[in-house]
Amino acid sequence: MIIIKSRKEIEKIKSSCNIVARALEELKKMVCPGITTRELDRIAEDFIVKSGGIPAFKGYRGYPSASCISVNEEIVHGIPSGRCLKDGDIVSIDLGVLLDGYYGDAAITVAVNKIDNETRKLLEVTEKSLYKAIDIAMTGNRVSDISCTIQDYVEGAGYSVVREFVGHGIGRSLHEDPPVPNFGERGKGPRLKAGMVLAIEPMVNAGSSDLLILDNGWTAVTKDGRRSAHFEHTVAITEDGPLILSML
Ligand code: MF3
Ligand code: CO
Repeated sequence: MIIIKSRKEIEKIKSSCNIVARALEELKKMVCPGITTRELDRIAEDFIVKSGGIPAFKGYRGYPSASCISVNEEIVHGIPSGRCLKDGDIVSIDLGVLLDGYYGDAAITVAVNKIDNETRKLLEVTEKSLYKAIDIAMTGNRVSDISCTIQDYVEGAGYSVVREFVGHGIGRSLHEDPPVPNFGERGKGPRLKAGMVLAIEPMVNAGSSDLLILDNGWTAVTKDGRRSAHFEHTVAITEDGPLILSML
């Protein structure tokens, strides 16, 4: 069941998202060679707590940390560790916040210093696929129009979309209906209505879409070892079009 949110509820989700967005800004500045993903997680958790929020991922189905930090071939759900970032790496940072009963969720992928052109293109295509999807996230269109927009654009650029993880509705729960896959046929599934709030999150692999889950039970990595990027925004569908709640 897709839960329609009131204006007031959307404002609350926006407040949660605002903490997420500001934390991501802060973390982006801290990303540099030599920093560990655990140090980044600590900064994220401190920022969220100091802002009055609760880290939404910590304890979610036993997930151990405030953030998911996925480096290079890690697709999503990288568990912060002693791994040191290196020049030329890419690092995806995914954060969720609970504030006043409502969740916000967003992710970015950032470069550690200078990255090669191929990797830069992977980041550009992934981020652009998110904004293309957001552009068509309006009443009358369907959820699968979002999915198809992402898939067409990503595959047209020569990359692949991950199937095992999808975007989602968000509100009083971190994951609500509808699922928002990054693949699918246009014109299928529920119509978008004003008051729906969706976390749209393309996960894009440079090579094949096949993945493996590490022994920690969480971290998804590409099977071929090539790189993967992830961008996510929480977006409200309104009568006036899409509203990106997780943008500053
Ligand atoms: N943005 C991801 C999602 O919506 C992150 C969830 S991490 C988890 O699924 F730890 F909370 F599972
Ligand atoms: Co999400």
